[in-house]
Amino acid sequence: MVWGCASLGGEITAVEPTQSAGLDLKIHDPVSQVPPAESGLQSARNDSARVRLYPLHNTDAAETSEMLARSADFHRDWVTYPTSLDQVAAFIARSADDGMLILGIRRPSDNILVGIVTLCRIAREPWLTAECGAAVDVRHRGKGYMAEGMRLLVRFAIDELGLHRVEALVRPENVRSAHMLTSAGFRIEGIARGAVRIQDSWVDHVRWAITAEDLAIIRRDALVEERG
Ligand SMILES: CC(C)(COP(=O)(O)OP(=O)(O)OC[C@H]1O[C@@H](n2cnc3c(N)ncnc32)[C@H](O)[C@@H]1OP(=O)(O)O)[C@@H](O)C(=O)NCCC(=O)NCCS
Repeated sequence: MVWGCASLGGEITAVEPTQSAGLDLKIHDPVSQVPPAESGLQSARNDSARVRLYPLHNTDAAETSEMLARSADFHRDWVTYPTSLDQVAAFIARSADDGMLILGIRRPSDNILVGIVTLCRIAREPWLTAECGAAVDVRHRGKGYMAEGMRLLVRFAIDELGLHRVEALVRPENVRSAHMLTSAGFRIEGIARGAVRIQDSWVDHVRWAITAEDLAIIRRDALVEERG
């Protein structure tokens, strides 16, 4: 089984390793390309004091596994992530080969892992797009950490990976995801019919996306507001 972010809203089922995985983008090995864990990502340092993003390494496997196991009931209706230490260690170890980037969202005040975000199905030119996923630690849900983490993920994907779009596929009834994505600047583009197989049924999903142009407008508006 290859774990992946085939859907933000549905059960994550086996995903074929992405062919060439878009890793011919500006980055060739997304995990080793980013700064060491203790420094966080550049975009995260600049943009947010509440949370920072860090690439997950094998040394994070135990903490991540505990977080995902504790949150499995909360995630169950929407996503399925591995929970055992072995599975999570394999998930992290194989992520680059599977064309996936897994980032931990940590609270700088105590360095606690409050959730994870993922980028998968990274596609090179002419698409320059990727699909994102997210899962909160149930103990830290509803505190706005994930919305901030998703904002940082978008900036990282566009500014540092050079992607043009970040997409999300979400079940229509996944209200928390909808709020998180709206808060991070995503917009609805329509319904992807039968987008994901969940328990043997092909389920419609809402397609959300944010583009580099959207992000430029968000930044311009923030600047205008800041200047009063
Ligand atoms: C989706 C998920 C990652 C969001 O995490 P979260 O901790 O709820 O998100 P945040 O606290 O950052 O909140 C994001 C937004 O959702 C809102 N929100 C939080 N809990 C909510 C709830 N129960 N109902 C409606 N909105 C809610 C927040 O107010 C915030 O909106 P705002 O920015 O407009 O104020 C989390 O609910 C989760 O792990 N769900 C299961 C897995 C899943 O669905 N993953 C797919 C992610 S796209």
